[in-house]
Amino acid sequence: MIKKDKIEFLNDRKVGIVGCGHLGQSIALSLIKNGLKRETLFLSSRGNPKTQSRLQALGLAQNLKTNQEIFQNAGIILITIRPQDLPELKKTMVPGKGLIVSCMAGVPISLINTALNAPVCRMMFSGPDTIEQESGVASMFPEHEDLKLLLRCMNLTHIRSKSENDLDVFTAGVCMPAAILKAGHRDEAQKAIYEIADEYPLFSELYQWAVSVLPHFQTQKEQNQYIEKMVTKGGVTEAIINSLCSGASFDAALRAGVSRTKQISKEIQRSILSGLQD
Ligand SMILES: NC(=O)c1ccc[n+]([C@@H]2O[C@H](COP(=O)([O-])OP(=O)(O)OC[C@H]3O[C@@H](n4cnc5c(N)ncnc54)[C@H](OP(=O)(O)O)[C@@H]3O)[C@@H](O)[C@H]2O)c1
Repeated sequence: MIKKDKIEFLNDRKVGIVGCGHLGQSIALSLIKNGLKRETLFLSSRGNPKTQSRLQALGLAQNLKTNQEIFQNAGIILITIRPQDLPELKKTMVPGKGLIVSCMAGVPISLINTALNAPVCRMMFSGPDTIEQESGVASMFPEHEDLKLLLRCMNLTHIRSKSENDLDVFTAGVCMPAAILKAGHRDEAQKAIYEIADEYPLFSELYQWAVSVLPHFQTQKEQNQYIEKMVTKGGVTEAIINSLCSGASFDAALRAGVSRTKQISKEIQRSILSGLQD
């Protein structure tokens, strides 16, 4: 299928983005930039005035719909809310025929099925900046042809996941640009990736990607600021960077990242389950 036909396919299907914050906005902008018609893109938020003004400034306010309208009318529905908002989303869920795709990190398919009472796929993306620069990567489970086509339209690279566990490894792997910069010695990082390649084949692929998107900085201060920007308190990048700072090897730091992903995932699951019981 040539690119024009792919976009036409998406225009026919109609794309909904439930929860248009950082990630949702970057996906919306990329789709519009690559030719999706504005009238076939539906967005929602919870009504935070800051989000409304941001969507207005981006020219996306006219795409706002209710969640019910999105679930009923979109053929592909990307859920880009934070995991803790899933119990609230359940209340606005209506039956529809669209493909529901969770982009929430750390929430397994079984739990989303329980919450939304509908079949879902999962898709994970690298950060919003890489989506907007069209240098990003994404992974999905299970694979779906419509989602592969969506990624091709957005000029993102599809990295294969063989299981949901791979999506956790992917989540740690996309922190690698910051980790490589922090580690400093590219040769050692490459050797470490080679050593854990059997256990984590995804890291090899993501290492190539990370090296290709590494920004160049004039000063150490600029580099430190970039790393700081990528670190969220209690997040996966922080676990990897802290591990490197305490003298761990590159592979041990990546393992610490995978462990943190799994820990966060357990915390999220506990909080969603208690939210669903309320
Ligand atoms: N940011 C990343 O780098 C990244 C990368 C990969 C995956 N993710 C995943 O993407 C998800 C979103 O992350 P984010 O950084 O984009 O968060 P965010 O900026 O906080 O955006 C979340 C958005 O969801 C909206 N929302 C919450 N509940 C809603 C509901 N019931 N109906 C409609 N909209 C609702 C919020 O609306 P209001 O603004 O009105 O409150 C907000 O705009 C997370 O699950 C995260 O794991 C993020």
